[in-house]
Amino acid sequence: MPEQSASSTRRDSLHGLWSSRFAFILAVTGSAVGLGNIWRFPYVAGANGGGAFVAVYLLCVFAIGLPIMMAEVLIGRRGRRNPVATMTLLGEEEAGHPSWGLVGLLGVVTGFLILSFYSVIAGWTGAYIIKSAIGEFVGAEPATIAGSFAALTGSVLNSGFWHTVFMAVTMFVVARGVERGLEQAVRFMVPALVVILLILLGYAMNTGAFQQGFAFLFKPDFAALTGNGVLAAMGQAFFSLSIGMAAVMAYGAYLPQQTSIIGTSVAVVCADTAIAILAGLVIFPIVFANGLDPNAGPGLIFETLPLAFGQLPGGAIFGALFFLLLAFAALTSGISLMEPAVAWIMENHGLGRAQATTLVGTIIWVLGFTTVLSFNRLSDFRFWNGTIFDNIGFLTSNIMLPVGGLLITVFAGWVMCQNSSADELDETAGTLYRLWRFLARYVAPVAVLLIFLNATGLLAPVFDALMPQG
Ligand code: PHE
Repeated sequence: MPEQSASSTRRDSLHGLWSSRFAFILAVTGSAVGLGNIWRFPYVAGANGGGAFVAVYLLCVFAIGLPIMMAEVLIGRRGRRNPVATMTLLGEEEAGHPSWGLVGLLGVVTGFLILSFYSVIAGWTGAYIIKSAIGEFVGAEPATIAGSFAALTGSVLNSGFWHTVFMAVTMFVVARGVERGLEQAVRFMVPALVVILLILLGYAMNTGAFQQGFAFLFKPDFAALTGNGVLAAMGQAFFSLSIGMAAVMAYGAYLPQQTSIIGTSVAVVCADTAIAILAGLVIFPIVFANGLDPNAGPGLIFETLPLAFGQLPGGAIFGALFFLLLAFAALTSGISLMEPAVAWIMENHGLGRAQATTLVGTIIWVLGFTTVLSFNRLSDFRFWNGTIFDNIGFLTSNIMLPVGGLLITVFAGWVMCQNSSADELDETAGTLYRLWRFLARYVAPVAVLLIFLNATGLLAPVFDALMPQG
């Protein structure tokens, strides 16, 4: 109800505010930059043929991801509660329907599922800190490096151990509350990660296959792109930007009122995308120079990057540092995957932060073993999209995040009254506000729906009719 919303704006946060706009940028960047950019982007791009996938990915990032990120931040700041409470509150206020709270709940569940596999992969990066530091990769052949990866993932004990370590550290940080230490970590980690990626880029340029890698990423062959490839590109955009599961909404709740949501979101989205592209530019030349397969799947970075570290002077140290930074980047993302669930349980079930974290973390830890086992005992247990790990990845990135994002953008664009969203986005940004509203109301929802429809194959006859010669 619009009359109500005008009177109840400018709520106070329950848990204080970010110290500055920069602190918020750091927190959201910490959430966005992680395994999604460096591990997942190259492997999913490689599995979907490269160029055309990347083109669709970039389109999705800017036409769908950016407006949805702004929608999440503005909803979060307006509600200033945990995502379930915020969606319930704003649902009542703007539409008289508390059931919008279910969108927050969907986000909580999605976060559980994503963190369950995320933690296992992050655990592998932990193992790689040690492997690099002890010089295991120095001068090693591709086959040796692939064998080392297979040995790690093939062992329930090893893989499970590192998964346990990562979950324990994540729980420790979340239980203590998201504090300034974290801000400091992101402030140092993201730039340092970029520096090492740039050094690796220098190496990639000298492999003799840089052009081939570059062409693989940027020369689109749209004929090779399937409906599922387009879906995967959209899913990757949601995953990498941390949107669609209310993580950004949870962080938006602590954003000071005068901070520009538009400017902040543009900065985060550009940084996140640049880092993914940079990772791609490093990985694919190494793949081609060594005659490896770009379609190697989730082991791609673990089978390529050690080759570079093994040949660079000081590579053992560089490699260890790189995987350490990547583990940190994963930690700052893991925290944001857990925060909505923890905040919600604390506010609803009267548990303290440490208890809520223990409960949530333990469930996710147990769930994570389905991913650990997907690479050994259960590697032949395949249905739908492949192993259990493949299916959790597909379900969360390609379906749950886009559905969550769709509902969020429909809420911000159609359900919220214009005064409310203009108030949050600051109407002095007149043209930009109108552009956001157009993207949030029309472009993003229609694009998500079309991509879903396309993936079912139902659109194929329409395309055939439109392009008879193709
Ligand atoms: N964006 C994170 C990454 O790229 C993963 C993530 C997804 C975090 C969804 C929070 C929410 O690694």
